[in-house]
Amino acid sequence: MAIAKQLLTKGYGVIGVSRRTPDDLLQNTKFSALEMDLSNLDNLPDQLQDLVKTAPVITAAVCCAGQGRFGCLEEFSFEQIRSLMDLNFTSQAYVTRALLPNMKKNGFGHLIYIGSEAALSGGRRGAIYSASKFALRGMAQSLREECAHNNIRVTILNPGIVKTEFFDDLSFRHGEEPENYIEPGDVAEAVLLALETRHGTVIDEINLSPLKKVIRHEQK
Ligand SMILES: NC(=O)c1ccc[n+]([C@@H]2O[C@H](COP(=O)([O-])OP(=O)(O)OC[C@H]3O[C@@H](n4cnc5c(N)ncnc54)[C@H](OP(=O)(O)O)[C@@H]3O)[C@@H](O)[C@H]2O)c1
Repeated sequence: MAIAKQLLTKGYGVIGVSRRTPDDLLQNTKFSALEMDLSNLDNLPDQLQDLVKTAPVITAAVCCAGQGRFGCLEEFSFEQIRSLMDLNFTSQAYVTRALLPNMKKNGFGHLIYIGSEAALSGGRRGAIYSASKFALRGMAQSLREECAHNNIRVTILNPGIVKTEFFDDLSFRHGEEPENYIEPGDVAEAVLLALETRHGTVIDEINLSPLKKVIRHEQK
């Protein structure tokens, strides 16, 4: 949402893909909403084909949808392992797969992924979340090489703890001081920086973290 708002402020047209339609963004004539459940991989190829047909010229894709689920591996059901990988990694690979042919045909494009500090190193209770973000980062690094000769740039942002709804269903969250978290707007600014950097230069990766990391564990 913060990234969409930032891009709209700068005059970009934005197609927002998510399950819920954000009413306040709909007031903006440069915004259109596409309701899609990215975790439903069976439906995704057809839905993405429709998107590509209606919007054949897409300047950039910001692949941001994701979910946090944490715990020791044996606390995950087999289905939970699959669904976290489906949303956090495989759906992003599907989106990229659908958009790339037109980006290559058009001769420009920018793929921007929201990874995580968990894409940089694994941590306790983060096996599957980290695996999904390592996979995303591996894909971004490979695409960086693969797409450069088509004038397509690839960037991945790896934030530490960001103050969002991400923590609503989790048993831990950031500290309350402003130095304990990243603001969603900070991530949005980093996206804009990557997007607006001179075309011949690529910002491959941006790592962001709160000045003072504080994690609060809560009883749910
Ligand atoms: N918050 C953090 O500390 C943090 C740190 C590092 C990385 N990240 C990453 O940042 C990204 C955004 O997370 P956030 O912190 O902004 O969390 P959030 O507030 O929970 O937002 C998640 C976003 O993903 C969309 N989404 C979730 N499931 C979806 C689905 N099945 N289909 C389509 N869209 C879906 C949500 O829209 P709908 O609910 O409307 O579908 C929402 O826009 C994630 O990839 C997360 O892993 C977060």
